[in-house]
Amino acid sequence: MVTAFITGVTGQDGSYLSEFLLEKGYDVHGMIRRGSVDFRNRIAHLEGHEHFHLHYGDMSDSMSLVALISAIKPDEIYNLAAQSHVQVSFDAPEFTANVDATGVLRVLEAVRVCGLTDKCRVYQASTSELYGRVVEVPQSEETPFYPYSPYAVAKQYGFWIVKEYRDAYKMFACNGILFNHESERRGETFVTRKITLAASRIAQGKQDKLYLGNLGSLRDWGYAKDYVECMWLMLQADKPDDYVIATGVQHSVREFCQLAFHYVGIELDFKGEGIDEVGIDKATGREVIAVSPDFYRPTDVVNLLGDPSKAKRELGWNPNTTPFEELVKIMVEHDMRKVAEERMVETVNLEEFLERGIVK
Ligand code: GDD
Repeated sequence: MVTAFITGVTGQDGSYLSEFLLEKGYDVHGMIRRGSVDFRNRIAHLEGHEHFHLHYGDMSDSMSLVALISAIKPDEIYNLAAQSHVQVSFDAPEFTANVDATGVLRVLEAVRVCGLTDKCRVYQASTSELYGRVVEVPQSEETPFYPYSPYAVAKQYGFWIVKEYRDAYKMFACNGILFNHESERRGETFVTRKITLAASRIAQGKQDKLYLGNLGSLRDWGYAKDYVECMWLMLQADKPDDYVIATGVQHSVREFCQLAFHYVGIELDFKGEGIDEVGIDKATGREVIAVSPDFYRPTDVVNLLGDPSKAKRELGWNPNTTPFEELVKIMVEHDMRKVAEERMVETVNLEEFLERGIVK
């Protein structure tokens, strides 16, 4: 039986990857952090499975990583743990560096000091944010990096230390340069989920307006469930390498809004520019989207489009299993049901307060 160790198991990707590996017959071990609120809802349905095990540990605690890796002796490690919110990295840059940069080093070193360099394959969750202030469109494995946030700078260290361990110690370690990947399990302060939840609440009369930042920002959005397969494929390859994982299709935040609102039955018209831009319900003339400076980032990455040719060619991965329209539909259908079950009327949820800096 193949044994996998997943950091970040409670996250969107960790939960999908756990399901994927359990279906393949793996023994799956996940690392969780102790928290005072329930953060295990994405994996609750897996708890109790005979091959799904959870352990306490932390990316900032080398000893816990060494203890877990030496006890589990995994064949494959998927390092998905991170402070993954780009905007939050401006508020907590040191924590972000500790987890997203040094944390990667801790995992690699743990593998090495446990004597597992030859046995254990490592997947590192790299990111399209490395392209940052992009120097070319689309971005491929050959495109130079220009990280443009504390998050991306930390992730760049993670990327290079993986390459270093591959070269220096011949470790089978890979970077998956994943472009934005969304789902009905996406955290509620990332733009796509924020939009699908708000559209659902507005359609059901539970929220008045949605406040967003840069509506012109362009992203290559894929379905997270499809992307975890590629993480696994990388570790099954003959040699370790780095791969762009993307759909090769680009849309703006504004287009995402248009489609999400369309699926809840609201056709949008956008008027104005920049901070004065608003989204109007064509049928009623009501303003349902407005721009707030709270959601602008000190430096923003505005033009991401991935070229997934290498993953397609070398790993046989299909980047277009779930097209954009279907992804938005899946998310909206899920959130329409979720919102319908919400008993309390919420005009703005707590996550939104936090993200807007009202509670800090
Ligand atoms: N979160 C958020 N909230 N983003 C907004 C908003 C808003 O109200 N309004 C506009 N945006 C814009 C952001 O400025 C950014 O340009 C874009 O929407 C996407 O933002 P996010 O959904 O927060 O994702 P991200 O691209 O910054 O980062 C995500 O994808 C990366 C690539 O896979 C995260 O998941 C990262 O961890 C990941 O590395």
